[in-house]
Amino acid sequence: ETKVIEVDPLNIEEEKIKEAAQAIKEDKTVVFPTETVYGLGANGLSENAVRKIFKAKGRPYDNPLILHVANVRSFLEYTYISYTLLEKIERLLPGPITFVLKKREIVPNIVTAGKDTIALRMPAHPVALKLIEYAEVPIAAPSANVSGKPSPTMAEHVLKDMFGKVDYIIIGGKVEFGVESTIIDLTQGKIPIILRPGPIPPEKLKEIFGDIIIPDFAYGKIEPDYIKSPGMKYRHYAPNTPVILVEHDDVDTMVKKVLEEVKNYNNPIVLCLKEHIGYYKDHNINFDTIGSEANYYEFAVKLFEMLRKYDEKIDAMIIEGIEDKGIGIAVMNRLRKASYKIV
Ligand code: TXA
Ligand code: MG
Repeated sequence: ETKVIEVDPLNIEEEKIKEAAQAIKEDKTVVFPTETVYGLGANGLSENAVRKIFKAKGRPYDNPLILHVANVRSFLEYTYISYTLLEKIERLLPGPITFVLKKREIVPNIVTAGKDTIALRMPAHPVALKLIEYAEVPIAAPSANVSGKPSPTMAEHVLKDMFGKVDYIIIGGKVEFGVESTIIDLTQGKIPIILRPGPIPPEKLKEIFGDIIIPDFAYGKIEPDYIKSPGMKYRHYAPNTPVILVEHDDVDTMVKKVLEEVKNYNNPIVLCLKEHIGYYKDHNINFDTIGSEANYYEFAVKLFEMLRKYDEKIDAMIIEGIEDKGIGIAVMNRLRKASYKIV
């Protein structure tokens, strides 16, 4: 039922992408790689096609989708945007960022869950861009995971979650970032608001927009304003095995907290920074590394992979937190939401 196509992103065989693009034109569903996570796509201008996305994912219809486009011109086609604003966002395109803007009539209500705004994104992935170009329509796509599970960053994740539920799966290697795009809302007054932190950090946005609002919920600490981003009310990223997040403090305090948590379980694993191996290796406990203090991008790209790798294999994942800075904000947002307990 599901046809799996493998492509090399560095040497794309056009015919394969054309076949999948034809499926999009026929209102079928296609899983495809992006630079953030894999997406589950369908013709974003067809209500019939978009309905299939919600069904395959088990996603509630009140959670709107991101519309993926292949060029800057599309922002004028699907949103009401001024040229001054377009010039600013152009500096970030293509890239791992999504813009919430006032939508035009042509975008079906099913994509936006009835809202008058649309989340638009131009991904920086050659396979995603080619697929959209050949399909000749924008592609509506959420992350290609079963609703509530960690987003897929590897071929085996999409095969596990989506095989048998979609028409096509394009396998295109590992993703670059591993956390979903930064989402900013450009419809609430003059200053952009970060609705979801991602690979494009606030510092970069400040360079372009001058000022930027980071609400508390963007850190994953408090309940968000449901009206602004309905998707956030659902439990996210959660494996079945409980995640215990140990928030960053000074290293000694953190390690002490980790070791205390370890005692509460029969068969836990500690996921720690590379620099901290020395603290755990002589304690006769299971541990694995999830990135390094020196490079938070590495932590981000391994995050969902680790949550899936150890799910149901052990009885708790005790994870060292990192600082809320740069892409670390996106990592901590996902971890806080995935957590059963934060210490
Ligand atoms: O990196 C990404 O953004 C990936 C790849 C596949 O592009 N996509 C992704 O989609 O993460 P999804 O559906 O898993 O997350 C989209 C988020 C949801 O939380 C949704 O509520 C929010 O975007 N959203 C969509 N439309 C919105 C709108 N008009 N206003 C506010 N939030 C919106
Ligand atoms: Mg998602």
